[in-house]
Amino acid sequence: MKQAVLIALALVACEKARPRPEAEPCSTWESEARSVLEQRCSTCHSGTAPAGSWDVTTYQSAIARADAMLAKIDPAIADEIHLAVSDAREPLSRWFECGLGLRDSLIHARGIQNPADPEFHGRLLRSVNYDFALCARCHGEDFRGGAADASCMKCHEQGPTECSTCHRTGIDAEHRAHAESISSESCGRCHIVPRNFGDAGHVLNDGVLDPFPAEVTFSGLATQDRSPSWDGDRCSVYCHGVAEPVWRAGQGEAACGTCHGTPPPTHAIDRCESCHPRSDVHIDGRIQIGRSDEGCRGCHGEPDLPAPLDHGAHRSHPACGDCHLVPEQIESAGHIDSDLPAEVFPIEIAKTSLAFARGFEPSWDGETCNSYCHGDATPRWDAVDPIACGSCHGVPPADASHDSEWPLTECARCHTGAVDAYGNPIAEGGHLDGNVDL
Ligand code: HEC
Ligand code: HEC
Ligand code: HEC
Ligand code: HEC
Ligand code: HEC
Ligand code: HEC
Ligand code: HEC
Ligand code: HEC
Ligand code: HEC
Ligand code: HEC
Ligand code: HEC
Repeated sequence: MKQAVLIALALVACEKARPRPEAEPCSTWESEARSVLEQRCSTCHSGTAPAGSWDVTTYQSAIARADAMLAKIDPAIADEIHLAVSDAREPLSRWFECGLGLRDSLIHARGIQNPADPEFHGRLLRSVNYDFALCARCHGEDFRGGAADASCMKCHEQGPTECSTCHRTGIDAEHRAHAESISSESCGRCHIVPRNFGDAGHVLNDGVLDPFPAEVTFSGLATQDRSPSWDGDRCSVYCHGVAEPVWRAGQGEAACGTCHGTPPPTHAIDRCESCHPRSDVHIDGRIQIGRSDEGCRGCHGEPDLPAPLDHGAHRSHPACGDCHLVPEQIESAGHIDSDLPAEVFPIEIAKTSLAFARGFEPSWDGETCNSYCHGDATPRWDAVDPIACGSCHGVPPADASHDSEWPLTECARCHTGAVDAYGNPIAEGGHLDGNVDL
């Protein structure tokens, strides 16, 4: 039985081999080309920095520049350097005419190692339905050489049925944009990923080739919130939002603004980073609002000081409600449903805000504040000088109730709940609470 299979393989190989006239044996790498290149070209085209980045010492690297080789040493157009070696053109042309073969072999066609050749071993394998057992017969069960004494591991370190032998990192640009590695996480969003080469539905079904194209079967993130579809041209998946990108149409299909508006039509504000400051969690199946799930603090300030600290004098003004209408919820009216600037001293807060105390009508002109708290002063919001005793009112005020000579230690005599015996203001319910405490 095995014998019959082997003969079949030998026949496949011989049948397709190019005719070899008996009188003039065909030129191959091993019979001629290698030594020509070695003698005439390798002085410059070998080593760690070969001229023109072209190394002629191995078959694979030599045929990699087959497109330029003969023209470069054509005496009619060659430069001085290559004119000197143009005698190599004749034997090399013979090799080209014979299809850049590797060697004359009783078993394999000359093109067995040339990826551009119809007889290349990758194609040979496909033509025998990837029946690796055929090759193992001579190359060894472990593909390390066997009776043929020719190891596949020389070039395929992990063995020929390892995933990357056929799926080299990123098959094409489309795949490179979608999958970092050959793994179930990476490929599994769009395909059923085989554990082993021989798994049913991968390449073979009961030994019969599974015809192209590859099956696209979505799972995971692709299926969130919808039943995804692939029509052979376009995808409709969660990841692309409202878009239905064309698989082979390139980068433009995933430009900013294709999957969702920038911002989406529900939004009033377009500085994404104010509300979506995390860029590391994009397209993960969740809408991230704020730095974390800390509610208001996710967008405003730090855990113990929720104001936007990088902004003006917020650090020393933690009571938001003195200047702003504080939303109960993120989506409350007046909060993020209008663009910047933020509203300051809206009339809704008049009853509860210190800025409106004792009938004051505070105002904000975009730079300075005019509020009850600062008395006659109108400090700048971005002021760098610290506010001191005396910034908001005289110490003491220059009026009939006070003697301008009184030191700070005098104040507590009349303003008991507001300052201590040394004149230090008492914050809780005393100083700056909307009432003159006597
Ligand atoms: C004395 C040094 C020298 C020898 C010998 C030499 N080359 Fe080159 N070759 C160069 C240099 C330098 C370059 C890179 C500059 C250039 O492209 O002309 C080059 C480039 C090439 C290229 C690359 C052209 C491309 O566009 O990438 C080919 C093909 C080539 N040589 C063929 C040959 C062949 C065939 C031989 C032997 C028959 C040979 N050379 C011998 C120096 C040499
Ligand atoms: C009848 C035995 C036999 C079978 C079956 C066989 N080979 Fe080979 N193969 C050899 C021998 C012997 C060599 C060594 C060079 C030569 O004689 O061609 C070789 C060489 C090769 C080479 C070149 C290795 C090198 O170092 O350049 C490749 C590639 C190759 N075989 C692939 C395959 C593949 C793929 C299969 C299965 C589809 C296969 N062979 C089946 C005997 C066999
Ligand atoms: C001298 C190096 C070399 C040896 C030895 C070699 N291969 Fe390869 N093989 C290659 C190259 C080069 C490719 C193609 C890579 C590419 O297309 O980029 C390839 C591709 C393949 C592929 C992938 C085909 C596809 O559809 O993409 C398979 C399978 C394979 N080889 C099997 C074997 C087997 C089995 C042996 C041993 C019998 C073997 N190779 C020996 C160099 C080698
Ligand atoms: C010998 C070559 C070869 C090897 C080795 C190989 N594959 Fe494949 N693979 C193919 C071919 C050919 C197709 C296209 C099949 C089709 O058209 O249905 C494919 C398709 C796929 C697909 C697309 C879905 C499908 O089944 O059509 C995935 C995913 C995949 N392979 C993953 C793997 C993984 C993972 C491994 C390693 C366990 C692996 N392949 C090993 C040749 C190979
Ligand atoms: C974002 C979805 C997506 C991911 C992720 C993905 N593929 Fe594909 N793959 C496709 C689509 C779409 C096709 C085209 C199928 C067709 O032509 O009908 C395809 C085709 C293929 C083919 C057939 C060859 C070809 O070029 O048409 C292979 C093999 C394949 N994929 C393997 C893989 C492997 C291996 C991975 C993981 C590294 C992977 N795919 C990850 C969507 C994906
Ligand atoms: C003022 C705060 C804010 C700003 C600024 C903001 N977003 Fe949003 N975004 C939200 C909130 C809150 C949600 C959640 C709404 C929901 O649950 O439906 C959201 C949801 C989203 C969603 C998913 C829901 C949808 O409507 O599609 C996307 C996509 C999005 N934002 C993108 C953006 C982009 C892009 C920008 C900048 C151009 C931006 N956002 C600026 C607050 C904001
Ligand atoms: C491939 C489709 C796609 C593209 C292209 C895309 N997005 Fe998104 N984006 C999404 C999806 C899907 C969501 C829904 C939330 C999620 O799953 O992370 C989202 C959510 C967002 C959000 C809300 C916060 C979050 O991550 O949840 C912001 C902000 C955002 N995208 C900004 C951008 C910006 C800026 C660009 C352009 C650089 C862009 N997006 C391009 C698909 C895309
Ligand atoms: C003393 C008055 C005052 C207090 C108290 C105050 N803010 Fe403000 N806030 C302002 C002023 C003034 C602006 C600037 C408005 C402008 O740009 O026109 C502002 C702006 C803002 C902005 C917009 C920032 C930007 O990036 O442009 C946010 C958000 C904000 N405040 C939140 C808060 C929060 C949260 C608190 C409570 C922790 C708070 N504020 C306390 C006066 C105050
Ligand atoms: C998604 C990010 C985000 C979250 C979460 C958030 N805010 Fe805001 N907040 C903003 C932005 C952006 C502004 C500036 C809005 C504007 O221009 O009117 C703002 C403005 C404010 C203001 C200034 C007044 C105004 O409405 O303009 C206050 C006060 C405030 N937020 C308090 C809160 C409170 C309290 C919570 C929790 C219930 C909260 N924020 C949650 C983004 C957020
Ligand atoms: C002998 C009693 C007395 C002493 C001592 C005193 N005050 Fe007063 N202070 C008053 C009275 C009475 C009022 C109310 C006057 C009014 O409403 O016109 C007042 C009001 C004030 C006000 C409010 C002014 C306004 O219109 O809002 C300030 C500020 C103030 N005092 C600061 C001080 C300071 C600072 C000191 C110490 C250096 C001090 N006082 C010492 C009796 C005193
Ligand atoms: C940010 C503006 C501001 C600063 C700075 C300030 N005050 Fe006042 N102070 C006020 C206001 C407004 C009142 C009116 C009464 C009230 O609302 O508590 C007041 C009232 C007073 C009173 C009268 C008792 C009372 O609170 O009713 C005393 C005494 C006083 N301040 C002492 C001081 C001293 C001492 C300093 C410096 C350590 C100081 N203040 C700094 C705004 C300020």
